[in-house]
Amino acid sequence: MAHSIDNANVTRRDFIYVASATAAGVGLAASLWPFIDQMNPAADTLALKEVEFDLSPLVEGQIVTIEWQKKPVFIRRRTAAEIKAAEDVPLDQLRDPQADKDRVQKPEWLILVAVCTHLGCVPDKNNKGEFGGWLCACHGSQYDTSGRIRKGPAPKNLAVPPYLYLTDTKVLIGAEPKPAAVVAEHG
Ligand code: FES
Repeated sequence: MAHSIDNANVTRRDFIYVASATAAGVGLAASLWPFIDQMNPAADTLALKEVEFDLSPLVEGQIVTIEWQKKPVFIRRRTAAEIKAAEDVPLDQLRDPQADKDRVQKPEWLILVAVCTHLGCVPDKNNKGEFGGWLCACHGSQYDTSGRIRKGPAPKNLAVPPYLYLTDTKVLIGAEPKPAAVVAEHG
């Protein structure tokens, strides 16, 4: 059973804990929080292996958080200015140098494991910090609009999980991306 998000109920800065989880090849799907606790452990593990998410309700600038493999994952629909800011940063200014193009499959959509690489806190979804990304308030790590560490004690960028575009507007978090030709064929 797939869950979709009602556009009318989506507002900027909302954090939507709505997604469907699918177990590849099994056909099992279940909504995540707050129902996950009601699932038995086997189904829990199975359901969290891959999480399908419909991107289409998100407006530019919006960030939502979903859960994947018991970790929070940010999905952010970046504005043109946020994309440009991420692309324009010289790599020699980065503590953990990585080009923006190597962190996204499509520039508009940034998908990150929302776990600070300092001590594992979840960065503040409502505070973009000095670099337009996220502030991890507990010790002041700041991330940019590509989720790269820019200031504070964290040593590494926010991790990019594996994900696959099932269609132009649907992603499967946890699945390895396929070559472009295969994505196009199924898109
Ligand atoms: S855990 Fe994020 S700054 Fe310490």
